[in-house]
Amino acid sequence: MLFALPCRPGKPETLASATVSFILGNMEKVLHLDLGERSYPIHIGPGLMSRADLYRPHIRGRQVMVVSNETVAPLYLEAVRSALSDYQLEQVILPDGEEFKTLEILNRIFDALLEKRFNRNCCLVALGGGVVGDMTGFAAASYQRGVDFIQVPTTLLAQVDSSVGGKTGVNHALGKNMIGAFHQPRCVLADTDTLDTLDDRQLSAGIAEVVKYGLIQDAGFFAWLEQNMDKLLARDTDTLVYAIERSCRCKADVVAADERESGRRALLNLGHTFGHAIETGMGYGNWLHGEAVAAGMVMAADLSARQGWLANADVKRIRALMIRAKLPIDAPAEMNRSQFMDLMAVDKKALDGGLRLILMDGIGQAKVCSDFDPELLAQTLDPALPLTGS
Ligand SMILES: NC(=O)c1ccc[n+]([C@@H]2O[C@H](COP(=O)([O-])OP(=O)(O)OC[C@H]3O[C@@H](n4cnc5c(N)ncnc54)[C@H](O)[C@@H]3O)[C@@H](O)[C@H]2O)c1
Ligand SMILES: [Zn+2]
Repeated sequence: MLFALPCRPGKPETLASATVSFILGNMEKVLHLDLGERSYPIHIGPGLMSRADLYRPHIRGRQVMVVSNETVAPLYLEAVRSALSDYQLEQVILPDGEEFKTLEILNRIFDALLEKRFNRNCCLVALGGGVVGDMTGFAAASYQRGVDFIQVPTTLLAQVDSSVGGKTGVNHALGKNMIGAFHQPRCVLADTDTLDTLDDRQLSAGIAEVVKYGLIQDAGFFAWLEQNMDKLLARDTDTLVYAIERSCRCKADVVAADERESGRRALLNLGHTFGHAIETGMGYGNWLHGEAVAAGMVMAADLSARQGWLANADVKRIRALMIRAKLPIDAPAEMNRSQFMDLMAVDKKALDGGLRLILMDGIGQAKVCSDFDPELLAQTLDPALPLTGS
């Protein structure tokens, strides 16, 4: 049986106008995400979070609330506070962890804003990884029906993915990221110095999302990653800035073309339907999101190859790059096919009962797809069968 909806390939030729980039000084880069009146700059480079001049143009009033967590605040809050010392500056420090990304904990931000009598011209600053960024963004989207916020992402994943694009929200007991809003930041400051304190596992998890951009629409970037993976793992600043810039450019292009995910933005979910099943199946927190997405992208490559769309040699390249990035390439042995199918069916990307996956015609050529052969999907999910290219 084949599903009805045809595959929709991406259109890379329409993307070039969405962002403009400038190179400032020796290492800093700036991208502009073009969304009309919601457009904003994305600054990438070392030493950015302590620069008052980067915040100032984006703060309308006098009141600034920095939101961070127990791990990141001791490392970086002082630098941000000193850059913002001209303002009425307040702070909220949240507990650290995905399990605290809830409405209940979100309320602490509203409590602080109301207790300090913050008005509609206030600005929130999200200092942390994707959890802090998503929660702060949602608080900004809903406080007094919407106030400004600035993203200061401190994980690689947040710098290349969650801080850009305006998806904000919290988890519900019945589903991840199920309560949320689209709300774009006024600017993003991706300070690469913060990555020095990130542990190796979190760095690799962020690299999974970087590899994703190469697989979706940029074969040249994938080849660059093959050349530069060791420097990236060694946190070489130039290499990091380049990888983050190229990733953000890809994300910004996709978001500019499809801000509310009615079409093309779905490509950013490459590896994610498989990956979310692994995250849930293994229990949240046991596999990092990026680790699950890495294995998920290998599974998407395997299914694409079984369909005859992707060359076996390309699957081998994808597996080899994940291994070098210290990322998993196989589904967990504990999970079987029926568990995968159940979990994938409830993923929010399942459409009108039919499963929609992001598959590949080649490296750099992802497509939204419902007309894959379920028999071949069953083979991809069968732990007894080796994946293509292994
Ligand atoms: N909004 C979006 O478009 C989008 C996209 C992708 C992911 N997300 C969300 O992002 C979250 C995952 O983000 P994440 O991977 O950044 O996880 P995270 O925010 O939990 O950060 C990972 C860990 O690193 C710590 N940390 C952060 N910065 C650090 C630093 N510089 N040095 C040392 N430790 C540091 C954090 O405290 C945490 O313990 C998920 O909730 C996911 O749903 C959102
Ligand atoms: Zn992701």
